[in-house]
Amino acid sequence: MRDIPGPPPQADGGLSAISAAGGLHTYQLELHERYGPLVRFQLPGAPAAISVADPVLLEATAAIDKRPDKLFEFLEPLCEAGNLQTLPAAEHGPFRRVLLSVLAGRRSHEAHFAGFVTLATELADRWERRAADGPVALQHDLSELSLRMIAQYALGGGLADPARVVSAFETVLTVYLGRLYERGDDAARGERALAYLREVVDGVLARGGSELVTALAEADMSPARIRDTVLMIMLAAHHTTGVAVSWTLHLLAGNPGPAARVAAEVDDVLGARPAPEYADLRRLTYLEMALKESMRLYPPGPYGARETTEDLLLGPHRVPAGTTIFYPFWAVHLDPRHWPDPHAFRPGRFTPEEQAARPRYAYLPFGLGPRGCEGASLAMVETQLVLAVLLRRFAFEPVEDHPVTPVERFVLWAEHDIRLRLTRRP
Ligand code: HEM
Repeated sequence: MRDIPGPPPQADGGLSAISAAGGLHTYQLELHERYGPLVRFQLPGAPAAISVADPVLLEATAAIDKRPDKLFEFLEPLCEAGNLQTLPAAEHGPFRRVLLSVLAGRRSHEAHFAGFVTLATELADRWERRAADGPVALQHDLSELSLRMIAQYALGGGLADPARVVSAFETVLTVYLGRLYERGDDAARGERALAYLREVVDGVLARGGSELVTALAEADMSPARIRDTVLMIMLAAHHTTGVAVSWTLHLLAGNPGPAARVAAEVDDVLGARPAPEYADLRRLTYLEMALKESMRLYPPGPYGARETTEDLLLGPHRVPAGTTIFYPFWAVHLDPRHWPDPHAFRPGRFTPEEQAARPRYAYLPFGLGPRGCEGASLAMVETQLVLAVLLRRFAFEPVEDHPVTPVERFVLWAEHDIRLRLTRRP
């Protein structure tokens, strides 16, 4: 481990170095620029961590099936039956298979498509009414839309007060993420928000199941585990999907060339219809490329973590068992070796040919291996659907006096939201 390059250890466990760099992402970018693709560094909660930023080295870690307990401790209060993010591999494998059997099923996506379209159309209608009053704040509304979509999908019904659920989720995340970085926060506020969320989930479960709940019950999961799972799915699904759409709209608003091409494609595929059918999605190829490029520049989940369970050879270095691997997905997405002019928004990077020419792990918006995102295919359906509805209806323009600054929270969020001016398209 000592032979892995990295900065000299600091008494504060690396905290001041992270804040001096302006955050974890910029710190990891700096570390990799200075020390190469494999770096040893300190992280609060993981004093002996490594960061791996090379696709070939990443591949060598892909089979690891353990997350470090300490880094995910902050999610423990969400789980009554054991932390779902750090389940032991033997328990996680069957759990993952049940989730995938529902979340990744094409038939299930198709079955929920019309319901998703209704929700997306309601938001478009609301925005249309509001557009004349000035710019629209995207992130909040799109997270709420995602939450409504995942609630409908996972719980089979609507929520009485989705805005309150969104804000309770935000409180829980801010409080527990705050704890992770040792800033502290109002714990009681977090606990109240969590109690409210549990009550909401209980209420929804009491009203009758859903495909997901039934599948979990059929796999003999305990009621507490089912409740935890529903909460965790809602948590994992709503902000991620919401910010993926809002970052894409932000990038299109600032890039008129790609925006015109997306609009032309959406018009061509949808014609006079305000929303796509499920089968239309695969024809919206440029839209999909723009979405993928957006998740490269602003990955909603910018990091991942694993713990080695046996010694691992990474290039010339032996990494001992028990080491925390902190994945810098965002930094990997900006590596100029695979992404020339890395900060430029170029959907053309995602033609089938360009994708095939790049190493597999140069792009990891959904993570990798047995702990990668189970919701990836559902997320792609949801985001493309919402983007198609919104881009068919509106042209988006940036607002000059509203700078957009990414901040690392549970997801990659824009500080002070993303505000865009909307005009109705013919
Ligand atoms: C654009 C939207 C989304 C993005 C970018 C995203 C990204 C991610 C990432 C980066 C991880 C960590 C993967 C790793 O450690 O290798 C993850 C985990 C996870 N995601 Fe997503 N996600 C999205 C949407 C969703 C949705 C819609 C769901 C559920 C319906 C979901 C469910 C999960 C779950 C359950 C995990 C934990 C995986 C495990 O521990 O086995 N995600 N996601």
